[in-house]
Amino acid sequence: MELSDLQVEPTGSVIGAKVSGINLKNEVSQAVLMELRGLLDQYAVLIFPQQYLSPDEFVRAGRIFGSLLPQQLKKYVLKDQPLVGYNSTSDLPRKNGKLHVRGENYHTDHSNFIEPPRATALVAVEIPEIGGDTQFVDTRLAYDNLSSELKEISTHLFSKHVHQSSRSPRELTKLTQEDLAKIPQTIQPLVIRHPNSGRAALYLNTGRMEGIEGMDDDGAYELIDALYSHAIQQEFEYRHVWSKGEMVIWDNRSVMHQANADYDPEKSRYLYRIMIEGPPIEAFAKNTLKD
Ligand SMILES: [Fe+2]
Repeated sequence: MELSDLQVEPTGSVIGAKVSGINLKNEVSQAVLMELRGLLDQYAVLIFPQQYLSPDEFVRAGRIFGSLLPQQLKKYVLKDQPLVGYNSTSDLPRKNGKLHVRGENYHTDHSNFIEPPRATALVAVEIPEIGGDTQFVDTRLAYDNLSSELKEISTHLFSKHVHQSSRSPRELTKLTQEDLAKIPQTIQPLVIRHPNSGRAALYLNTGRMEGIEGMDDDGAYELIDALYSHAIQQEFEYRHVWSKGEMVIWDNRSVMHQANADYDPEKSRYLYRIMIEGPPIEAFAKNTLKD
């Protein structure tokens, strides 16, 4: 394929574009690779319809965007291809007959890592007819639309990100004491600078943020809640309705995402998952040191 074969169709929401005219099972040229990386920086969510990738093909396709990061939750990893994790309905606990899915509130993946994944990608293997959408919000636009007062306050603040915040709105996967000891805790800025575009974005993860450095807890969580409720407004959202065979990749430094447990627990929903390595998070305020 040539670069000119690529077709890019914005979703019509503030973020996201559908990319066609490419078969991700094949090698891509350097020109196409650079173009796709640029599109991810710009649109933050890319949708590649009808790819039907095997786990090995998914790994190769993922490498267009960078080196792959090993999966953290080893119990949800494919035996034959450990770089690929999976989300499967059959593993999910039920609460009062309702599914308890992972990722069911807006978050950015592994924000407690010193070098959180630059991007995460999913391949839809089995999708229920109704429900199970993934929602994304543009955290760059959310920052741009903050009041100048909130911009000024939040740009110089930092939060400790841990495996699970003491005020987490959801229960994260339980880890053994041994595994928990290996999980990093990292101080991250509330406003980050995108490594490629240089744009500012809010960096929030209510499941992992343990207060704000230098603030008392009441004030800290009040500010986190205010920023979070601002960022998850519908005007910043793209809601993805899945189709079988799609690959979707998103930029964890430009969006938050959330899963939905609103589908029939008897229906199968199964996706492969990979993560792309990224550099350490950088504060937007240049004169602010991380520690
Ligand atoms: Fe996630």
